[in-house]
Amino acid sequence: MTTTISPLIAGNWKMNVMRGALEELAALAGMLTSGEAPRAIVVICPPATILSEVAHQGATSGIQAGGQDCHTQAQGAHTGDISAGMLADAGAQYVIVGHSERRADHGETDAQVCAKAEAAIGAGLKPIICVGETEAQRDSGEAEAIVAAQLATSIPDAANQHEVIVAYEPIWAIGTGRTPTILEIARMHDSIREQLNARFAEKGPTIRILYGGSLKPQNAREILAVENVNGGLVGGASLLAKDFYTIISAV
Ligand code: 13P
Repeated sequence: MTTTISPLIAGNWKMNVMRGALEELAALAGMLTSGEAPRAIVVICPPATILSEVAHQGATSGIQAGGQDCHTQAQGAHTGDISAGMLADAGAQYVIVGHSERRADHGETDAQVCAKAEAAIGAGLKPIICVGETEAQRDSGEAEAIVAAQLATSIPDAANQHEVIVAYEPIWAIGTGRTPTILEIARMHDSIREQLNARFAEKGPTIRILYGGSLKPQNAREILAVENVNGGLVGGASLLAKDFYTIISAV
């Protein structure tokens, strides 16, 4: 039996926008509400400075909001950090954890990513847990093993009772305009699905697996049609309402 999973398209605005991006959000909201209802759940993960506005402005058109990272602890003396509870308080329903840029810039380990996902669940958020291999790891044929190891230690056991989302983002495809072949994407997503099924029994087939890395209007239709690709995590192409809407409509 195949489980039907409603697709999800998330835009990761990274450290790229200021308040002016709220105009793009308004444009996206207009597109989403003027035509046929989108087939995908739509999430925007803006910088924390405008999270509250995105959450409240997006709510009227069904756009949900997410954070880009959270701390492992619920509160305390951690200057500059943001807890999952604070994101929820600002209106977020999701939070990205373990993005490769955070793993690289801040040395985040799988264990920390797992603790962040647990903190997110504890605050009532759905963590979007990111994994992905480097170009050297793909070239040496290790991609699936690397991703399997990341998954095994980055996803908390709590995924058995709570909603978590996995995002496969090959590091070498992020912001480069290059993507794996459709066959490579299909193989990786199948391998992730097998692992989720083996570990989470009944819950495994229901966990969304997003693809991320140079997902664009031009390739979205083909990539999003791959079995076990249950949506996308979009960087650059989520910054322009028109492009992001085209990707959402490709579902
Ligand atoms: P790009 O879509 O810009 O390649 O970024 C992907 C990404 O990192 C989303 O989290």
